[in-house]
Amino acid sequence: MQDIALFDDLGHFDRERIPPRVVHATGAGAYGYFEVTHDITQYCKASIFSEIGKKTPMFARWSLVKSEKGDSDVMRDLRGFAMKFYTDEGNWDLDANNTPIFFVRDPMLFTQFIRTQKHHPRTHTRESNPQWDFWSLRDESVHQVMWLFGDRGTPDGYRHMNGYGSHTFKMVNAEGKAVYVKFHVKTCQGIKNMTRHQACKMSAIDPDYSLRDMFNAIESENFPSWEMFIQVMTFEEAEKYRWNPFDLTKVWLHSDHPLIPVGKMTFNRNPENYFSEVEQACFSPSHLVPGIEISPDKMLQARMFSYTDTQFHRVGVNHGQLPINCPLKATNYVRDGYMCYRQDSKGPPYFPNSFHGPVEASNGFKEHVYSVSGDVDRYDNQDDHNFDQPKLFWSKVLDQPARERLVENIVDNVKDCYPQIRQRVFDMFYKVSPNFKKMLEEEYDKISKESIPETTLQGIWNFVTSAVKTEM
Ligand code: NDP
Ligand code: HEM
Repeated sequence: MQDIALFDDLGHFDRERIPPRVVHATGAGAYGYFEVTHDITQYCKASIFSEIGKKTPMFARWSLVKSEKGDSDVMRDLRGFAMKFYTDEGNWDLDANNTPIFFVRDPMLFTQFIRTQKHHPRTHTRESNPQWDFWSLRDESVHQVMWLFGDRGTPDGYRHMNGYGSHTFKMVNAEGKAVYVKFHVKTCQGIKNMTRHQACKMSAIDPDYSLRDMFNAIESENFPSWEMFIQVMTFEEAEKYRWNPFDLTKVWLHSDHPLIPVGKMTFNRNPENYFSEVEQACFSPSHLVPGIEISPDKMLQARMFSYTDTQFHRVGVNHGQLPINCPLKATNYVRDGYMCYRQDSKGPPYFPNSFHGPVEASNGFKEHVYSVSGDVDRYDNQDDHNFDQPKLFWSKVLDQPARERLVENIVDNVKDCYPQIRQRVFDMFYKVSPNFKKMLEEEYDKISKESIPETTLQGIWNFVTSAVKTEM
């Protein structure tokens, strides 16, 4: 009982794990810089964009949305693409995904959807039924589902995919004039995907393939880069746009709002320690700088709360003081808490005061003022032009071989679902195109001999649906 070194060692070991991210748990990170290549000061006063050639240090983390720690990083999933810009006005985080849309447009459905992606509470296995059940009951998912089961659902590592801010944000210029924007970052390595079979095989050979690929590329000085673009929509255009411009299940068509080049980011340094720099990295859409603001998109509004809240729990109340998260300049009156080590104690710990310490920011930090009108209510927004863009995606973006791969990927996943759910899935895709449904049925007929027999599935369905339903 006197070997203190052993006790300290064991005691530390016993506390080595921290909670993983509740989503996006598997990922890779790297340092780099952002360089302005085009002038957008007519739209935005943020100092990061102030002049062509200006460089801002940054850190990014690429991840898999539904993943849990230790999962394969080549499996079918959306990819996260979180960017932290250490600007001279504070940190700006752009937490993007590799698709410009999402499954739901109401944040009340976010947690419900995420549960369909995780392990089943009873069996602790991952199942196909929950996700197809949910998606086929919520038509707004269909656009994102078509991306997920298309070629871009299995990117060849993190270097060969785009990033999309997805939400509508607001940019404000030096005169206080605001516009709505969407952010796009496009890979300079080119889009490259794996087929379903290649991704399955790679998951077995090297479940850390995407992490290793990024690390090795940077270590061998083959620095990956992405170009940043924005789409711009005026407030007047937003009033008249053919779709709700704040709907996260929809894009703004390029032909309506063309991509405007902004800059380029290059990643040229690997972290020294994965845990302290990548695991403890805390990104949040609420980390904004003057000139970049949020919009009335309710998903984005909900995200304003969720990230810092989870990080208080996941990393600790002073996560903002860690070197990976700390802005270049940070002054505030936040005090104490676990693991506090950077606190300015020269001034009084309150504001206003008669002495010194941080003072209220000048008008540059004041948010843009906007008007609202109409009733405020909770309502179900399920039915809002859910099929317009999936139809475009099917008919205009995908060629015939890409459609065939999409159909095969869906059927391979939906084949073991309860017949009622499978039928509802096929009916949902009928609303995208009757030919889509026909192709799904033909593919299913072809492979159904390999599936669980219909009678067994029917028996399970009868058992599950006999359970008592309770109201929430
Ligand atoms: P466009 O017809 O102008 O461009 C099509 C876009 O689709 C390109 O940006 C291309 O990306 C991307 N794309 C190509 N193949 C695939 C694929 N297999 N999976 C996913 N994306 C692919 O687009 P519109 O603006 O007219 O929108 C039409 C449809 O295109 C939308 O319904 C949407 O699904 C999709 N799309 C739209 C985007 C937008 O922000 N407007 C962005 C991406 C897709 P790349 O340039 O990288 O090749
Ligand atoms: C991670 C919540 C939608 C991109 C996270 C985390 C939470 C969360 C709690 C874990 C954060 C952490 O532990 O540090 C939500 C909620 C959403 C939402 C409540 C909707 C209401 C989205 C959307 C995108 C996105 C639409 C992309 C456009 C990301 C990324 C990460 C992440 C990239 C990983 C950040 C990292 O690498 O550390 N999200 N999310 N999320 N989210 Fe979301």
